[in-house]
Amino acid sequence: MNLILLAAPGAGKGTQAELLCEKFGIPTVSTGAMLRKNIADGTQLGKMAEKYINDGKLVPDDVIIGLVQSRIAEGDCKNGFILDGFPRTIAQAEALSASDVKIDKVLNIEVPDEKIIERLAGRLECKSCGTTYHKEHRPPKVDGKCDRCGGDLRVRDDDKPETVKQRLKTYHTQTKPLVDYYKEKGMLRVVSGQEKIEDTHKAVLSALEK
Ligand code: AP5
Ligand code: MG
Repeated sequence: MNLILLAAPGAGKGTQAELLCEKFGIPTVSTGAMLRKNIADGTQLGKMAEKYINDGKLVPDDVIIGLVQSRIAEGDCKNGFILDGFPRTIAQAEALSASDVKIDKVLNIEVPDEKIIERLAGRLECKSCGTTYHKEHRPPKVDGKCDRCGGDLRVRDDDKPETVKQRLKTYHTQTKPLVDYYKEKGMLRVVSGQEKIEDTHKAVLSALEK
């Protein structure tokens, strides 16, 4: 199964992708995580992307399209993959549709902006493996440490309130049009992401059966 997770920042794409990845044994391709890794490694790409990310803007389409195309050509994606955070513009969706890759379903997780602001204010992320936590909704077992790898948890640089506001603006103008784009193609499945993580996961699984 080749799946797109389409949703606003903080709606739970990464959280649900992790559960789907465990269930189906297919990798998650997260453009945000790939960019953050490049920033941490100090690569040219990371240096270029950092400013866009910290301003709550999108990294240019050509860069992202190239990054995703080479990632999904890797062997571990041959039995399926979950795209988390791509495509995010009509141009990215058109590039994907013009490629050889066939997408089976597009899942939109709906969460209102007020709830997103609260979620991102409490998010923690593992510096080493990228696993996401929430101070209240998904606390780590040991304070400040990742349950999976024991790495240190940090607040993402783009989770500052003013950056979150800009990320939501960017989402509404540039990414939300993809909801209608995929609806018209009959590929869209929609779930409410307002329930608990496990309940949202169940709703996601049943939406994917349709
Ligand atoms: P990216 O990393 O993709 O960030 P995003 O889209 O803003 O989404 P987030 O990762 O912030 O949220 P999420 O939906 O994964 O939610 P999560 O599961 O963590 O991209 C970062 C940046 O990179 C972009 O702004 C852009 O600059 C650039 N970029 C990336 N892709 C690009 C592209 N294609 N084109 C151009 N630029 C690109 O959950 C959030 C919090 O809520 C967590 O704390 C979690 O524990 C909690 N939570 C999750 N679900 C629930 C629930 N059901 N109940 C309670 N709490 C919950
Ligand atoms: Mg994410």
